[in-house]
Amino acid sequence: MDLTLAILKPDCVRRKLTGKAIDFIESKGFKTLCMKKVKLDRPQAEAFYAVHKSKNFFNDLILFMTSGPCIPMVLQKEEAVTEFREIIGATDPKKAKEGTLRKLYADNVQENIIHGSDSMENAKKEIAFFFPLTEIIS
Ligand code: CMP
Repeated sequence: MDLTLAILKPDCVRRKLTGKAIDFIESKGFKTLCMKKVKLDRPQAEAFYAVHKSKNFFNDLILFMTSGPCIPMVLQKEEAVTEFREIIGATDPKKAKEGTLRKLYADNVQENIIHGSDSMENAKKEIAFFFPLTEIIS
């Protein structure tokens, strides 16, 4: 079975939506292998989002992701990466399909409550960023 990395972002935690988000994810058949609450510092957030360094929203993204605790999670399902991106919806909630997590709860393209890995290769790197192998319960 495949794995993907999700992060319940600081807006999700701040707005007390973590229970609803986890319930939604589990109701779609994902198994939660690990999760923890962390507060990223600037170097950690910059490293995690290094691929977006050249984007004009990079600094705002780093300020947002360091604005409070977030909850990274390792999720397991067949085709986990694509299935998860399907259930969370488009990055911009205005463009997200009905019934997706972002359509239901996200405020805007930055504060979009949740992150999901965009490829199996990135899922592997992103999981390793937050979780040592010894913490992953399979
Ligand atoms: P995420 O899936 O975590 O990947 C990169 C993040 O950058 C994205 O979710 C948003 O939080 C943010 N982001 C992407 N595009 C924009 C944009 N056009 N303006 C502001 N923030 C963005």
